Amino acid sequence: MRAVIFGASGLLGRSVMRAFGDMAVTGTGFGRTAGGLVEVDATSPYAIARVLGQARPDVVVTCVGERRPGVWSFAPDRARESNVDAARLIAEGAHREGARLVHISSDYVFDGVTPPYGPDSLPNPLNAYGRWKLMAEQAVRAASPDAAILRLPVLYGPVQHPAETNLTEIARLVAAGAPAELDDVCVRYPTHVDEAAEVCRRLADALLAGERLGSVVHWSAEQGLTKYRMALRIAQRFGLPTGHLRPGDADAASGDRPVDCRLDCRDLPEALTPARRLFDIEFRPSWSPG
Ligand SMILES: NC(=O)c1ccc[n+]([C@@H]2O[C@H](COP(=O)([O-])OP(=O)(O)OC[C@H]3O[C@@H](n4cnc5c(N)ncnc54)[C@H](OP(=O)(O)O)[C@@H]3O)[C@@H](O)[C@H]2O)c1
Repeated sequence: MRAVIFGASGLLGRSVMRAFGDMAVTGTGFGRTAGGLVEVDATSPYAIARVLGQARPDVVVTCVGERRPGVWSFAPDRARESNVDAARLIAEGAHREGARLVHISSDYVFDGVTPPYGPDSLPNPLNAYGRWKLMAEQAVRAASPDAAILRLPVLYGPVQHPAETNLTEIARLVAAGAPAELDDVCVRYPTHVDEAAEVCRRLADALLAGERLGSVVHWSAEQGLTKYRMALRIAQRFGLPTGHLRPGDADAASGDRPVDCRLDCRDLPEALTPARRLFDIEFRPSWSPG
């Protein structure tokens, strides 16, 4: 079997590459192409057609996206292209090649007011990122009706630099020891990337076996934590002081961050369900360059 993983240089994409390691895998990056990744601008239909034409994949996974809030505000057009246009173009390319598609989306398509949210719950994004993710889902469904769209909550896992995940940024605040206020209202469900990647792989196998899946699938850890609670857990686990940390409400008060987007995962068939990892045990604040 042949697979193309778009966005293979990113946090999730690196893990998805490992999960598809027994296939003939082509991974793409854009700014980061170390380790044999193919450079592809996923906003270019020609670049996508070229890599798909060469790899002739049975299955495609889209991990391309722009999830950094700084880029949403300073380069919104570019962020929109990376989240929406890239998703549409990859879905069109995969469909043309006759490849099955797993597309990654986000719990931010929901407003966080009435959790839990099932795959059929009504999306109502509060911010630009959530709107782009929803537009991407709609474009993927139109271009590749058989695609599986996997919605995920905030992810953690092995990082290349401390700012790569919200969780490692929180760990940095804990370790720095300077006074810091962290939101204690908005609940998040930090999920390990390897768990998410395993769901991707199982979805791909099911699609390749010709199984019919609902077009939207949810996966999430079960443990809900605010940023402040995550900080306390990290401090407790690594024996660090907490006196400099204060609970706040900055994210909730901003009005554009959902309060609780808990994803209901009960529709996911047992055979596609991975072993669950616990944040308290699995989170590592360290990072390695490269
Ligand atoms: N991280 C989370 O907490 C989280 C939660 C829910 C859903 N998601 C979604 O999961 C997916 C993967 O997220 P992630 O955390 O792995 O993000 P990430 O670490 O920022 O990686 C993003 C990937 O997209 C690539 N990319 C960005 N713009 C591109 C473009 N124009 N053309 C080609 N490639 C481009 C990046 O390539 P280079 O780095 O090489 O430029 C990188 O491989 C995204 O769709 C994200 O929205 C993430």
